[in-house]
Amino acid sequence: MAAVQLGPRQRPPGYPDVLSPVFWRDDRVVVLDQRRLPSEEVWTAYDDADDLLRAIREMEVRGAPAIGCAAAFAVALVARLGLPAIELRRRMHAIAGARPTAANLGVAVHRMANALTMERDPVAEAQMIWAADLAACHAIGKNGAALLPDEGTVLTHCNAGALATAGYGTALGIVRAARAAGKRISVLCNETRPWLQGARLTAWELAEDGIPVNVIVDGAAGHFLSRGEIAAVVVGADRIAKNGDVANKIGTVGLAAAAFTFGVPFYVAAPGTTIDSSTLDGAKIPIESRSADEVAMLAGRHLLPDGVGARNPVFDVTPARLVKAVVTDRGVSTAPYAF
Ligand code: MRU
Repeated sequence: MAAVQLGPRQRPPGYPDVLSPVFWRDDRVVVLDQRRLPSEEVWTAYDDADDLLRAIREMEVRGAPAIGCAAAFAVALVARLGLPAIELRRRMHAIAGARPTAANLGVAVHRMANALTMERDPVAEAQMIWAADLAACHAIGKNGAALLPDEGTVLTHCNAGALATAGYGTALGIVRAARAAGKRISVLCNETRPWLQGARLTAWELAEDGIPVNVIVDGAAGHFLSRGEIAAVVVGADRIAKNGDVANKIGTVGLAAAAFTFGVPFYVAAPGTTIDSSTLDGAKIPIESRSADEVAMLAGRHLLPDGVGARNPVFDVTPARLVKAVVTDRGVSTAPYAF
C-alpha cells in the first residue's frame, strides 16, 4: 500500500471527474482517508484486501454506498490471489460483515460472488458496481429535487454526500440537483458526534462546491425545526427494511421525531442497494456498536469521570410512519412501503 499526501483541491493521478472517496486505478484501490478531513487530504492506494478491510472497519472509508464499492474492490483484490474456494468464501464473508448495518456491503459482495461463479472479470464487475452507484446518486438527485421548495434550508445529519458514495451523494445529491435546477437551497448540518461526519465531511464537500452550509451541534436541530426555519430534513440510510423502517446514523430517529412534531417533511434518500426486503422491519436490522472510547474521548482527551462508561450504538432505526417519502434511484415512494 502507498499513501500520498496532497494539498487542498489536489487529486491523485487518474482521479475520476467527480469527487469520489474510493475508486480503482492501476490495479489498486485508491481511498481518501476521511478521518483526516478537512485538515488533510491523504489518498492511499491499496493492493491488499486485508488492508482495505481494515480501512473499512476503521472508518477511513465510510458511508453505506461507498463501503459497498470498497467491499466490491476488496473482493476483486482477493479474487486475484487464486485461493481455494473455501478460503475465498471465508474472505468474502469477512468483507460482507465489516460494517454490519450497511446493507450495501452484503449486496456488493453477493454480486461479486455471482460474478466469480460466472467467471466474469472481478475488476470490471467492481467498477460496474461503482459506476451504478454514481448513476443511482444522480437519479436520486433528479427524483428528489422536485420535493424541495424554490428557496429554503435543508437540515441534514451525518454525511450522505459524495464522500459516502461513489460520488455526488444521496441526500446531498438532492441538494446538488435542486441547486442545479436553480433552487436557492442552503444546508444546516448536524455536527454528528462522535465522528463529526457532519462538521468535517458534509461541511467540507458542500463548501468545496460553493453550497452555503452552516454546522450546528446535534442538540440544536429541534430548536431550528421548532422555529420554522427548516423547509425539509433530508438524510441518507444504511439499511431500509421491507416496511420502510430506516436505519441511519445515530441521532436520526430523534431528528425524525422532532421534524414530525413540528410538521417538517422528513425525507430519506438511498440507492436500491440500501433496501433490504429480506428484513421485514427495523427491529430486525443489526445495529453496529463501536468502541466506547469514540464517545469518551474528544480531540485525544478522555472526557468522562473515572469509572464512568459510555455506550456507542452508531445507528438507530426511524419508524416508517415518521418518514414522508423515501427517494431512490427508481423514484419517490410513500407509505405503505412494500420494498
Ligand atoms: O458510520 P458512517 O459514517 O459510515 O455512517 C454513515 C451514515 O449513517 C450515512 O448517513 C449513510 O451511510 C448514508 S450515506 C449515503
